[in-house]
Amino acid sequence: MKITVIGAGHVGATAAQRIAEKELANEVVLVDVVEGLPQGKGLDMYESAPIEGFDAKVIGTNSYEQTKNSDIILITAGIARKPGMSRDDLQATNANIVKTVTEQSVAQSPRAIIIVVSNPLDVMTYVAKKVSGFERHRVLGMAGVLDSARFRTFIAMELNVSVEDVTAFVLGGHGDSMVPLPRYSTVAGIPLPDLMDKATIDRLVKRTRDGGIEIVNYLKTGSAYYAPSSAAVEMIESIVRDKRRILPCAAWLEGEYGLKDVYCGVPVKLSSRGMEEIIQIKLTPEEQAALNKSAEDVRVNIAKLSL
Ligand code: APR
Repeated sequence: MKITVIGAGHVGATAAQRIAEKELANEVVLVDVVEGLPQGKGLDMYESAPIEGFDAKVIGTNSYEQTKNSDIILITAGIARKPGMSRDDLQATNANIVKTVTEQSVAQSPRAIIIVVSNPLDVMTYVAKKVSGFERHRVLGMAGVLDSARFRTFIAMELNVSVEDVTAFVLGGHGDSMVPLPRYSTVAGIPLPDLMDKATIDRLVKRTRDGGIEIVNYLKTGSAYYAPSSAAVEMIESIVRDKRRILPCAAWLEGEYGLKDVYCGVPVKLSSRGMEEIIQIKLTPEEQAALNKSAEDVRVNIAKLSL
């Protein structure tokens, strides 16, 4: 198993470290445009292997030759948000970056599965699919796992319970119109509406929607990376180990949930093929309307691209 991580910044480097420490690949290749950055971080990480006890070679490079025949390509290249910016403000810059890195990496690894983290997530995942020409089961975006992890954390904080017992369900695009579903979010199997009043749920849902900007406002010079890298690696683990976990991912829809030709967050069964299946659940009219609106926001932004 060979995994390439493109972008050796905060998200990329942290993801590479987690992949190596979990031994999800024999070889982890970290790529960046900045000379020396991936080499330095890669070697530093590799030197932690004897202490952490992992058997994975970590290589940093500025060229794509060393990424040849990767099984998975994780795209984290691009600029991150600063206070006052929305994810959509990154679109023009990151579309060019994601286009370039996709072209270069798929030329070396035509059979890889691509997972995109760069924002605005749903639109960047579309760029990777369009440029690679890959089938939809091999091009997915990471957003729902992160959004639901944030929701789970806030639920656990509110109830003062272990996060281990909390599951949460978030659909839709990775933006202000994401669709957290409280009735499918549970604590030890108990649906959230049975444990909290509506005002509390609404407050936690709002905090989840604003979860990214909350971190940006603290950090000021960049955006979140511990939870985003964990989320991407959870998807990778399900693929590498063929675990068939059902995780919310940005997937290219072809009629599922009544939506077509758009990337949107839905529950996906992740296997060694990538997306094995989209799990469809029945939504209430309000939930479906919120999902439609979220997908429409993504569609509007996809239309602004000139690839
Ligand atoms: N090829 C390879 N790497 C690139 C390219 C490129 N064409 N362009 C930029 N990069 C690299 C930068 O040099 C930098 O090291 O991408 C890295 C991005 O790292 P950070 O600035 O630390 O950003 P990070 O916090 O990792 O976020 C990356 O993920 O969560 C999203 O919104 C976030 O779009 C952002 C992306």
